Amino acid sequence: MSLTLTRPELVRSHNFIAGLWRDALSGGRHPVSDPATGAEFANVPDSAAADAQAAADAAHAAFDSWRDRTARERAQFLKRWHAAIVANGEDLARIISREQGKPLAEARGEVAYGASYVEWFAEEAVRAYGDMIPALMPGKRMMAVKEPVGVVAAVTPWNFPLAMIARKIAPALAAGCTVVAKPAEDTPLTALALVRLAEEAGLPAGVLNIVTASRGQTPATVASWLADPRVRKITFTGSTPVGKYLARESADTLKKLSLELGGNAPFIVFDDADLDAAVTGLMAAKFRNGGQTCVCPNRVYVQSGIYDAFARKLVERVAALRVGPATRDDSQIGPMINARAVEKIERHVEDALAHGATVLTGGRRLSGDGLDGPNYYAPTVLGDANREMALFSEETFGPVAPLFKFDDDADVIREANDTPFGLAAYFYSTDVRRIWRVASRLESGVIGINEGAVSSEAAPFGGVKESGYGREGSRYGLDDYMHVKYLCQGGLA
Ligand code: SIN
Repeated sequence: MSLTLTRPELVRSHNFIAGLWRDALSGGRHPVSDPATGAEFANVPDSAAADAQAAADAAHAAFDSWRDRTARERAQFLKRWHAAIVANGEDLARIISREQGKPLAEARGEVAYGASYVEWFAEEAVRAYGDMIPALMPGKRMMAVKEPVGVVAAVTPWNFPLAMIARKIAPALAAGCTVVAKPAEDTPLTALALVRLAEEAGLPAGVLNIVTASRGQTPATVASWLADPRVRKITFTGSTPVGKYLARESADTLKKLSLELGGNAPFIVFDDADLDAAVTGLMAAKFRNGGQTCVCPNRVYVQSGIYDAFARKLVERVAALRVGPATRDDSQIGPMINARAVEKIERHVEDALAHGATVLTGGRRLSGDGLDGPNYYAPTVLGDANREMALFSEETFGPVAPLFKFDDDADVIREANDTPFGLAAYFYSTDVRRIWRVASRLESGVIGINEGAVSSEAAPFGGVKESGYGREGSRYGLDDYMHVKYLCQGGLA
C-alpha cells in the first residue's frame, strides 16, 4: 500500500528536540509496520533515556518564556496550528490510515476530531480565569490565580494517533506548559507530522519536543521523565496496568497525573427502547475504528422481551459491514493494529464459544477477496454471552459485540457496574424516570443516553474507578494543566 501525499515532507523520520530534527543519540531506528501485513514501510529513531533527557532539558529551558507570553499569543499560535492541520488534513488522514489501518473516511474524521481540540483550547486559553475572594479582614486582598504546572510529559496511544496527542498537547500549550511527548510505537508518523505543522505554525524552540521509541525502549525513555523532578505532570492514555505503573513511579516527585485508562463499557437496551435507534447507536459506538477504542461497548445487555428482535436487526447491520484495506474507498473496517490484537480477539471468541456463546455473524479471521494480510477480523455478534466468559471482564478491543440477556433493571445495573473500570456506559430507554435513575446509578465517567457517539471537544472525557482520573476536552480540560496559586496582599488598610 503506497503513501502518496501532496506534501511528502510531512513524513518525518527524526525526533524533534529544541527546535531541531535529530537522530536518536545511539543512532538506533525502529520500524513502522503496515498493520495488515506486519511489513515495515518506514522507520523512526529508537530513542533511549538520554534522548528523553535532552527533550526534558529543552522543555525546561523553554518554560519561562512560553508561560510569560500572554494567553492571547499562545492562543494565536494554536489557531495557526489548527489552520495548518485543517489545510493538510488529507495528507494527515493518509498517514493515519497507513500506519494505523483505519479506513480513509474514518481517518478524515479523526483529523477533524483532533483539530477540534486544538481550536477549542485556543479559545479556552484566554479564559483561564481565577477568583477574587472576599477578604475577611480589613486591609487585605485575597485572590486565586491559575498557573501552568510546568513541563508536561505526554504518552499517547495508537488507536487515535492524531486526536489523542492533540487533545493533550493543545491544553498543555494553551495553559503555558511546555511538552515532551512520546507517541505509540505503532503509530509515530502522524505525531511527527503534527509537530512538523506546529513548527510551520511558528512553534518556538523547546516548547514542544517529541521522541519516538520501540516497545523495548519505551520503558527506559518514559522512566527518565518519571524520575525527573522538572517534569511536573504526566498525561497518559493507555492500559490500566501501565497507568498504575506511572502513578507508582511518579510518586517520588509527586507529579500531577491525568490517566485515561482501560474501559469495559456496558451498552444496555431496555424493553421500552427505540430498537432501530439502539442498533444505530451500537453500530456507531461498537464498530468505530474496528472496535479499537476505550469507549467501545464491550458488553451489550438486551432485555429479554426484545432480545430476539434486537439481535435480528443488529446481525443484519453487522453482516453488511464492508471489511477491507484502509485505502479502499468503500471499506468500513480495516485491519486490526497488529497480529497480537487479532490473537486476543480470537482468544476471546474461542473462550466465549467454550462457555456457551453462539456466533450470530462473523466469528473468524477474514482473508482473500482483496484483503492484503492476516490481520482482518470479521465484524462479529455473539449470542448467549455470560459472565463466565473472558470478554465479560476483559476489554476485547476488536469488532465483537457479545449479547447478554437480562430481565430486571436492578440486576443489569449491578452487572454493568461489576467491573473495576468506569470509562463509558450507554443505555437506550424512552422512560424518563428510568433514564434518570439509570444515569445516576451507572459508575462511569461518560454516559451515552439514547446516543452512541458521545465524544466531543466540548465535553469532559475521562473515567472513574480504574479507568483513571483527569478530564480531557471541555472547560475542565485546561485545569488539568494548571494549578491554583493563592495570593494574599496585606497592608492596604
Ligand atoms: C479512546 O479510545 O481512548 C478515545 C476515544 C474517543 O476520544 O472517543
